[in-house]
Amino acid sequence: TWTPDSFVDETVAELKAKIGNDKVVLGLSGGVDSTVAAVLLHKAIGSNLHCIFVNNGLLRKNEFTDVLKQYEGMGLNVKGIDASARFLEELAGLSDPEAKRKAIGKVFIDVFDDEAHQIEDAKWLAQGTIYPDVIESVSVNGGPSATIKSHHNVGGLPDFMKLKVVEPLRMIFKDEVRRVGASMGIDKELLGRHPFPGPGLAIRILGDITAEKVRILQEVDAVFINGLKESGLYDKVWQAGAILLPVNSVGVMGDERTYEKVVALRAVESTDGMTADWVNLPYEFLQKTSNKIINNVKGVNRVVYDISSKPPATIEWE
Ligand code: XMP
Repeated sequence: TWTPDSFVDETVAELKAKIGNDKVVLGLSGGVDSTVAAVLLHKAIGSNLHCIFVNNGLLRKNEFTDVLKQYEGMGLNVKGIDASARFLEELAGLSDPEAKRKAIGKVFIDVFDDEAHQIEDAKWLAQGTIYPDVIESVSVNGGPSATIKSHHNVGGLPDFMKLKVVEPLRMIFKDEVRRVGASMGIDKELLGRHPFPGPGLAIRILGDITAEKVRILQEVDAVFINGLKESGLYDKVWQAGAILLPVNSVGVMGDERTYEKVVALRAVESTDGMTADWVNLPYEFLQKTSNKIINNVKGVNRVVYDISSKPPATIEWE
């Protein structure tokens, strides 16, 4: 019978045999799959595993520094690259969702390739591909790998794509990945994280992206997500986030008229992201959250809650 412990023992032995003394490069995303893959490989080959964690400037508030610290605390050989400015530059003026995804994919590949070149004699590229990604062949939440798959046909393969690929999770499902992670002692909170799209907040800022919009959305998102955690609702929700709308609405503060941004909150239940229902969050929670956002996040004067299910709506707005 399959147990997380036996999976870890067998996989570590296989990885040792397969990789020997070679160096391996792995892109960490902060998500469950890449983290569990990294810890398995680290168990097998130690510091010959070279992890790269890229800040695209579109992560949640404080996420880059917090998660990087967590990775370092786990003993991983990880290099954090803050490429926020490069991503923002490439995104400037782009409003079309697919154009934004393409720009992000392109910069990611450039940044990752630059870093991979610094690791001399790397022989392998490790990925956190899980079984559903293998069946679908294109991962919806695969972070780096998904980004790479949809963009590697432009202008030839980057060098790191020519490495041999190792995917220790390719035969198991998400719930098994979490159990494997838990059996290796990975932090419960990290293992329970909601899925987060590779293009990050870029596809939750409708229209063009600026540093100021990213900052506003990060603040709003942090109020919402921390509120879910404090209210014990986070684990009851499959995915949640905030969306910055490209409209202003009229409001009033004291005796002044305001004309500021509208944000939408979205929380869904799902098993695989293919279909999803909006979550019936308690009115009291929505009320508290809305007040907190409007009172604390400068530039926002209206909050709405998305009550659309998938299909026909998608989870993300872009
Ligand atoms: P949709 O919006 O298609 O989202 O209902 C389904 C799941 O996929 C995630 N998603 C993405 N993940 N790159 C990703 O890595 C993307 O471009 C992307 N678009 C959507 C979304 O967050 C949800 O979990």
